[in-house]
Amino acid sequence: MCGIVGYVGENRATPILINGLLKLEYRGYDSAGLAVVENGNLAVMKNKGRVSNLEELDGINNLTSTIGIAHTRWATHGRPSAENAHPHMDNSKTFAVVHNGIIENYNELKDFLISKGYTFYSQTDTETIPNLIHYYFSRDEKDDGDKFLRAVRSACNDLKGSYAIEVISNLSPNECIVVRKDSPLVVGVGTNENYIASDIPAILPFTKNFYLLDDNELTVIKKDSVFFYDNSLEQHNKAIKNIEWDALSAEKDGYEDYMLKEIFEQPNSIRETIGSRLKLGEECNFDDLEFSKEYLENLNKIYIVACGTAMHAGLVGKNIIEKLCKIPVTVDIASEFRYRDPLVDEKTLCIYITQSGETADTIAALKLAKSKGSKTLAISNVIGSSITREADYSIYTHAGPEIAVASTKAYTSQVVLLAILAIHFAEILEASDKETLENLKTDILDLPTKIGAVLDNLDDLKEFAKKIYTEKDMFFLGRGTDYNVALEGSLKLKEISYIHSEAYAAGELKHGPIALIENGVTVIGIITDSKLVEKTISNMQEVITRGAKTLVITNQNLPNTHFDYVIDIPNTSSLISPILSVIPLQLLAYYISKYKGLDVDKPRNLAKSVTVE
Ligand code: F6R
Repeated sequence: MCGIVGYVGENRATPILINGLLKLEYRGYDSAGLAVVENGNLAVMKNKGRVSNLEELDGINNLTSTIGIAHTRWATHGRPSAENAHPHMDNSKTFAVVHNGIIENYNELKDFLISKGYTFYSQTDTETIPNLIHYYFSRDEKDDGDKFLRAVRSACNDLKGSYAIEVISNLSPNECIVVRKDSPLVVGVGTNENYIASDIPAILPFTKNFYLLDDNELTVIKKDSVFFYDNSLEQHNKAIKNIEWDALSAEKDGYEDYMLKEIFEQPNSIRETIGSRLKLGEECNFDDLEFSKEYLENLNKIYIVACGTAMHAGLVGKNIIEKLCKIPVTVDIASEFRYRDPLVDEKTLCIYITQSGETADTIAALKLAKSKGSKTLAISNVIGSSITREADYSIYTHAGPEIAVASTKAYTSQVVLLAILAIHFAEILEASDKETLENLKTDILDLPTKIGAVLDNLDDLKEFAKKIYTEKDMFFLGRGTDYNVALEGSLKLKEISYIHSEAYAAGELKHGPIALIENGVTVIGIITDSKLVEKTISNMQEVITRGAKTLVITNQNLPNTHFDYVIDIPNTSSLISPILSVIPLQLLAYYISKYKGLDVDKPRNLAKSVTVE
């Protein structure tokens, strides 16, 4: 949930660490801190609140050290406060640690350390780590150059749970040791300087060359070297990976907020998702997949498992796969799937969708399906993310870094990728006629231009947002795949405007929710499926009769109706219409949040990547 940055080099560490933290505030923002080795001692500075509160601390600008670690926190153990902020030190102030993740056995470790005379000053699980390192360090009688590394290794062997940690020590002032397990961490390589981060954008302005660390790999970083060790402290080599994201794409690029930037990036992110996978007149091409016709024919079902917005993308994907491939698809919430003892086996293909690739429930759900013999396919936006190391197959959305907490471009890219995957499977299975597939390919290739048209036509949407931004409740209605979009529109609104909203399959209205419709309530309808137009219109009429204010998003020529606002979007196959109809809903949530004066990019209580249960 939190963000980590580190630096070992020739320049002053503090400005580099702060710069990195500012880019990582979307991962956690209730406190921030840093530690450097200053004149032979560890200097730790931390403060509650945003990184700007850390920057304001007296003396922080006087730090001259060229090595340091830093952290921005989203509280899990212990309330947000300066004491609970990272870095944490051991009692002797010899080791400083920052940590992402959760140490599940921290109570046990804390009791053990207390029994050995250690005192704890915070309520965090993290504080056990520097003290454990000190415990092992002080008992190691061999005083060679590897003593620090051995102590970190021994401490990590005692930790249960997930972690990405950075450790520095005043006894070893030229090196930083880092380790990850089920939590992201990369090392960025420079000339006479190296960087560490939990997320690539934090250090992208400094380098494009990265080592993507593996679980349990101990890494020793000095200014001119990076060494990798396994648990037996055997050294090994590792290839550098060049990440092509440019630094600017990780910045706001002139937009007021990341979310707005990311919404407007969608024509381009979708082009990137399509890439060379889909061309007219050719079969779809996935270099990394090797599903045979026999394997796909033998499948009983496909499971799509994810959380939140990614799960909503899965619902749209279910419709496309079932229609094109004639394979039943079940969509499940990862936190439910993992405890449901799901009926999956080697005749089930399990697809996991996760923008970050780090969502704890989704990863656990994948591990479970694997243990039951089913093949697993991860769809992620982050190359080398944890889930892609666990999955049998991984494919990437290539939507570029998504910084705003509320997911927008990742969702549309996930749906596009699912559509291309469905066509790919249908081609292998020969389950749909060529014309249907070719028409869908044309519609997918036209999406970037059509999204551009939606983004050019925002005046009515802004006006409607202004009318309704003070409301307390709203409803979203749709049928078929429009219902899936209603779910996503409602989630977006809740997340960033804090307005309560519900999404219903329009036909369910009279089975209960219509009791809530009264004079002045806002109802948003999505109508894009020609076969269902009349049905949804009649549901909308029912709410108008009861005094509702209405906005309709449609690609149909609607008969004369009494809707207050109609947002027309370009026509496309109903299978992929959510990619267009979701955009006005993303923007509606955005404008409402802005009118309310809220922090769009960092909604309260939410973090970008949910790496704990
Ligand atoms: C909503 C949102 C969340 C995420 C969910 C899964 O805007 O962003 O609902 O979709 O937390 O995250 P990933 O896709 O990283 O697994």
